[in-house]
Amino acid sequence: MSLRDTFSFLGDWTSDPRRVGAIAPSGRALARLITAEIDAGAAPVIELGAGTGVFTRALLGRGLRPQDLSLVEYGDVFANVLRQRFPGAHVHQIDAARLSEAMLFDGARAGAVVSGLPLLNMSAETISAILQGAFSHLREDGAFYQFTYGWRCPVPAAVRRQLDLHATHLGRAWWNLPPAAVWRIERRHW
Ligand SMILES: C[S@@+](CC[C@H](N)C(=O)[O-])C[C@H]1O[C@@H](n2cnc3c(N)ncnc32)[C@H](O)[C@@H]1O
Repeated sequence: MSLRDTFSFLGDWTSDPRRVGAIAPSGRALARLITAEIDAGAAPVIELGAGTGVFTRALLGRGLRPQDLSLVEYGDVFANVLRQRFPGAHVHQIDAARLSEAMLFDGARAGAVVSGLPLLNMSAETISAILQGAFSHLREDGAFYQFTYGWRCPVPAAVRRQLDLHATHLGRAWWNLPPAAVWRIERRHW
């Protein structure tokens, strides 16, 4: 993690702590864990709350091409950092809760969504809108990967029931500050 990225985070966190949700970028162990099940076959892939691009870099390391990535980021500073760092990727400076209205990859469905959004700071209504938008862009077998600093799945059970989604705990990155767990959320197949 570079000092510059830590300062970007601290600067943005000071202006809007609830949106940023962390005072420093995620570490490499968490980036490895959250992207572990994703490879080039999942292309295209959507990343929500991309920040300074720690997960973006891990996705490129997993064989995804920049043009197969849509990076959704609301913050001005972070969106500009992403445009500079990943010139081939599609950066969408929009609210992730309005994802259903966005045109991504000319309508092609994604194989995975990787989310760094601070869901614990959001209402159940907002989380529901984000999940509905994400699944509207996902293939039938596509999965939504989310990390959390908490102990439970950050998508409330009521929202999972409402949208017919199933959550699986994939592990915890203890070498992250603070340690963080990763969940995979999928459509329930009866
Ligand atoms: C905890 S940081 C994670 C950043 C990066 N993925 C990482 O792990 O280092 C959360 C990020 O989500 C962005 N964010 C928060 N709410 C958002 C929203 N509604 N739409 C898009 N981005 C949002 C913040 O600006 C911030 O970059």
